[in-house]
Amino acid sequence: MRRRRLGLVKAGVFLICLLPLSILAWDAVAGNLGVNPIEAVTRRLGDWAIRFLIIALAVTPVRRLTGWGEVARYRRMLGLFAFFYAILHVFSYVGLDHFFAWGDIWADIVKRRYITVGLLAVLLLLPLAVTSTAGMVRRLGGRRWRLLHRLVYPAGMLAVLHFYMLVKADWREPLLYGAIVGALLGYRVVNALYTRPRPVRA
Ligand code: HEM
Repeated sequence: MRRRRLGLVKAGVFLICLLPLSILAWDAVAGNLGVNPIEAVTRRLGDWAIRFLIIALAVTPVRRLTGWGEVARYRRMLGLFAFFYAILHVFSYVGLDHFFAWGDIWADIVKRRYITVGLLAVLLLLPLAVTSTAGMVRRLGGRRWRLLHRLVYPAGMLAVLHFYMLVKADWREPLLYGAIVGALLGYRVVNALYTRPRPVRA
């Protein structure tokens, strides 16, 4: 009974995580993406990539502060959704914005610093997504897996920096995300200093 309930909740969370993509697809079909639909798609996917990253980062602090253990079950899914939206975001830039013109894309990476920073963030997220399975946790061993997965913090900071660098006037949103990532990182550092490590749950 409990397993069934957990399965249902997990399916519900999964569907909720797909909502931003469904709304985006709906808006695209309905022509609700404004005068520059490609830019709107790239931006919206980027927004959700960073939001899911922050939500995934918040899972452990929420569990520790509230004692709500069940929330940890969704950490991997939320992290993978952050990666999923980040990959779609990059794909919209590479495929829709630049039509896979690799020469232009490379020139952009070198010339526009915020693109370089975004690329670094994706490169840091990649090994985390690849090693997110229970099998990889076993293969790497809990300690090494945990160390590797600390990369999520620099990835989060680079994603915030990427956003901050591309904004031209209104810095409120990137600054808010930066403050949240900073607070979550601060919480983890303080916690690591005062508590013993726990076993890894994949
Ligand atoms: C190769 C990697 C990446 C590339 C090429 C890239 C490219 C872009 C581009 C072209 C924009 C739109 C800029 C504009 O409007 O002029 C953008 C915006 C954005 N990107 Fe990325 N990005 C990358 C990685 C990431 C990652 C990893 C994240 C988050 C996890 C992210 C989050 C965002 C956010 C939040 C925005 C701003 C959206 C808004 O204006 O509301 N990006 N990115």
